[in-house]
Amino acid sequence: MSRAAVLTGIGSCLPPRAVSNAELAAAVEGSSDEWIRSRTGIARRHFADPGTATSDLAVGAGQRALKSAGESSVDAVLVATATPDRPCPATAPLVASKLGLGGTAAYDVAAVCTGFVYGLATAAGLIATGTADRVLVIGADTYSSILDMTDRSTSAIFGDGAGAVVLRAGEPDEPGALGPFDLGSDGEGCDLITVRAGGSAQRLSGRDPDPKDHYFSMAGKEVFWHAVQRMAESSRTALGRAGWQHTDVDWFIAHQANERILHRLSDELGIAPERAYSNIAEVGNTAAASLPLALDHASASGALRPGHRVLLTAFGGGFTWGSTVLTWPETGRA
Ligand code: UT7
Repeated sequence: MSRAAVLTGIGSCLPPRAVSNAELAAAVEGSSDEWIRSRTGIARRHFADPGTATSDLAVGAGQRALKSAGESSVDAVLVATATPDRPCPATAPLVASKLGLGGTAAYDVAAVCTGFVYGLATAAGLIATGTADRVLVIGADTYSSILDMTDRSTSAIFGDGAGAVVLRAGEPDEPGALGPFDLGSDGEGCDLITVRAGGSAQRLSGRDPDPKDHYFSMAGKEVFWHAVQRMAESSRTALGRAGWQHTDVDWFIAHQANERILHRLSDELGIAPERAYSNIAEVGNTAAASLPLALDHASASGALRPGHRVLLTAFGGGFTWGSTVLTWPETGRA
């Protein structure tokens, strides 16, 4: 029987500063608490203060996940992020080092808001091949560092945070075992969620840089449609591969991009809206941190309990998308 990746611990970390819609709207022309709430479901988000990097949030979440799993070492550390501390090197080796895990394999996973699902699948592969017995997978993003605060359509949506899980080698039929997975991408969508500058396509030398190109931009309306279609399709594929019906799902946890997307997705999949978990009101869209933060909050609140069958799905820049399923296991609290 093949080795499965089994979830044994979870933790998350939010920067302390919560920013209300009213506070945000006061600084942005034409925005309002009413618009943000009704169009996105978001009431507040957390922003890291300058000086706090993605690695700091990742370390906070990683420490809690390790404690929850009762582990003091792992064989690999994966950090899913689109806001690394620096373009080079990757953030994961620094995170591993700060966690006292120096020497272990450590690398970043770049799949924007789908990064955590890609990270889980990658970790499952490391475990299946015997390359690792235990893996720490972290989703961490500091979008406040790339947001144009004068762009009302993006500054209203994103927040900072990190979430992490510990996986160990185990049996495919035990609680916490991840998979099957569905992963996909469509590079035709690369301009619709992007930071144009800072990479090899738009070099520092040779042209006058437009400061706006260093900020995050998103074609919200088009992305909305793709997000619903791709997550619905991918969820169906993962459910099919697992041999689950949509009625088997106790908790549907989708990337927290927009409350309206969550409602549309539940409709598409025939999952009762009360089975679709949402913490977007409190944290906004936290990109790669979104799914592990939602899992941690759902578990801490007692809504998500051992034995519950969970469908996870995400969509993000690239475009990328991915889904998986698991039965929630017993985990310790950090
Ligand atoms: O995480 C990765 C995946 N991301 C997503 O899935 C995000 C998907 N997209 C969305 O969630 C939504 O498209 C947004 C929340 C980004 C925008 O909502 P929308 O209902 O699609 O609005 P819209 O872009 O069609 O804009 C409608 C109007 C526009 O004004 P005009 O052009 O009609 O005059 C916007 O400029 O609403 C305006 N608007 C705002 N007004 C007040 C956009 N943001 C704001 C705001 N306050 N914060």
